[in-house]
Amino acid sequence: MADSGSLRKPEENEEEDDIICLDPSFFVDRSYEMTTFTFGSHELRLLCLRAASTDYDLTGQLVWPGAVLMNNYLSEHPETVNECSIIELGSGIGITGILCSRFCKKVVLTDHNDEVLEIIKRNIELQSCPENAQAALTAEKLEWGNSDHISSIIEKHPGGFDVVLGADIYILKFF
Ligand SMILES: C[S@@+](CC[C@H](N)C(=O)[O-])C[C@H]1O[C@@H](n2cnc3c(N)ncnc32)[C@H](O)[C@@H]1O
Repeated sequence: MADSGSLRKPEENEEEDDIICLDPSFFVDRSYEMTTFTFGSHELRLLCLRAASTDYDLTGQLVWPGAVLMNNYLSEHPETVNECSIIELGSGIGITGILCSRFCKKVVLTDHNDEVLEIIKRNIELQSCPENAQAALTAEKLEWGNSDHISSIIEKHPGGFDVVLGADIYILKFF
């Protein structure tokens, strides 16, 4: 994650010793808990947090309600994505793409946050037991609209994807 901190000049009457500069990684909570999620007949065991900071956009360290709704729907209607190749945007801990990997032939989980990508990769590793391994499941960095990221993914997957998925990634901001 980029270090956005910068040194500032001390104010008058302020001792230099009073200024503490912290690296952004100081605020990253990595106390992930193994958690069991059930969607219809499918049980997923995944690492996640119960709460996350919106600073540095660490919203992807936990499961959002949109993903729960999407996963319940997909578990009831697996034919929607059956045998498809899927790319998921803003995957967070990967709960939706990982469920899809039970029905699909290929799933690429993506996120823009490096910390979130680490947890996605750990959750993908947890799926490596034979009864879970159905689709090719991988993770890629993708910042929406970043043409370098998009080109790199297309290079690895020249056939493209049948479905683009995203849960809880559409947020309206009013300023
Ligand atoms: C609200 S979380 C949803 C996570 C997951 N889909 C879920 O529903 O549990 C939004 C996710 O989108 C990712 N995200 C936000 N802005 C993004 C961007 N510009 N490009 C790529 N990913 C982004 C965040 O890192 C986070 O993982």
